[in-house]
Amino acid sequence: MNFFLKVFKFLPPEIAHSLALNSLNFLYKARLLRFLYTKPESNPQVFAGMLVENMLGTAAGLDKNGDYIDCLGELGFGFLEVGTVTPEKQNGNPRPRVFRNFQENAIINRLGFNNKGVDHLVENLKSKKFRGIVGVNVGANKWSKGKERIQDYLTCIEKVYKYADYITVNISSPNTPNLRDFHDERNIIDLVNAIDLQVSKLNIEIPLLLKISPDESDESIDKIIEVIVKSKFTGIIATNTTIDKSSLSDSKLREVEGGLSGEPLMHKSTDKIKYIKSRSNDQIPIIGVGGVMDSQSFHEKVQAGCSLVQIYTGFVIKGPSIVKEILLN
Ligand SMILES: Cc1cc2nc3c(=O)[nH]c(=O)nc-3n(C[C@H](O)[C@H](O)[C@H](O)COP(=O)(O)O)c2cc1C
Repeated sequence: MNFFLKVFKFLPPEIAHSLALNSLNFLYKARLLRFLYTKPESNPQVFAGMLVENMLGTAAGLDKNGDYIDCLGELGFGFLEVGTVTPEKQNGNPRPRVFRNFQENAIINRLGFNNKGVDHLVENLKSKKFRGIVGVNVGANKWSKGKERIQDYLTCIEKVYKYADYITVNISSPNTPNLRDFHDERNIIDLVNAIDLQVSKLNIEIPLLLKISPDESDESIDKIIEVIVKSKFTGIIATNTTIDKSSLSDSKLREVEGGLSGEPLMHKSTDKIKYIKSRSNDQIPIIGVGGVMDSQSFHEKVQAGCSLVQIYTGFVIKGPSIVKEILLN
């Protein structure tokens, strides 16, 4: 498998990504994956009322359309988050839009929510065989403006809630213009109120999580906590990628537009977990994500105060063996 990882490093990032996931899917369908990657023993956790097989999950973006749920589930993840999905399919930004740096264990992406649309994802949820927890991360189409953006979230929630175990409302991608404005007090109140109404109207009982940016100030996080605690949201996912590239040594990469993930994001996103934990009197369950590359960084996240952990960049750089490396140490 190390051989394949080396080959993937030389391919353009998006081609490598789809080739890697299609290879995993092929191995899954040929019933070979379970022999290559035996699942670690389960270590069940209860998070927001859900029984999760273990604390490690995939972060949104890895499987945007839910096309790879069964093969990812076979690798031993405790839970999967699919999406970000938008009401209508969209192509995202022009390529190149993903940049890897293996020396610094980092990725910069400006994909811009490329996805096949919520209906495609729902079909995949209906036909999945994986029995573990699958959350769906929802967003807004690039062309939606003002109130239409709120409607986009509501549309996705209405379409997925019967088939998802939890829903993540993603307001933190830096690659959809102005999406992060939803962190502002007036906007987050409008969004959360509209979602609360939708939850009551449809009698939605699954957990709702808010995925936040690591680039918010403490004051902004305080406001978000205040709004969340009073709302029907259950918890927070901290964090998405950062637009702050100052932690990168590679000066050329620092100039690349997009969101930075991987090791250089670790401290910034972990600090947000600590902050939320300290300000919310343990009232808000947290999923931690950002920079987990091994069992040490995994445990650092947990110590900071999150109950579950997600990975993206670590999985891309180290391959599927990272699941066992983290869960067995
Ligand atoms: C190529 C790429 C695509 C991503 N797409 C999404 C996405 O669609 N929705 C989302 O909420 N986060 C997305 N993310 C952010 C990840 O879910 C995660 O929050 C971030 O990468 C930090 O975790 P990591 O350091 O383990 O990668 C993406 C990240 C990468 C690298």
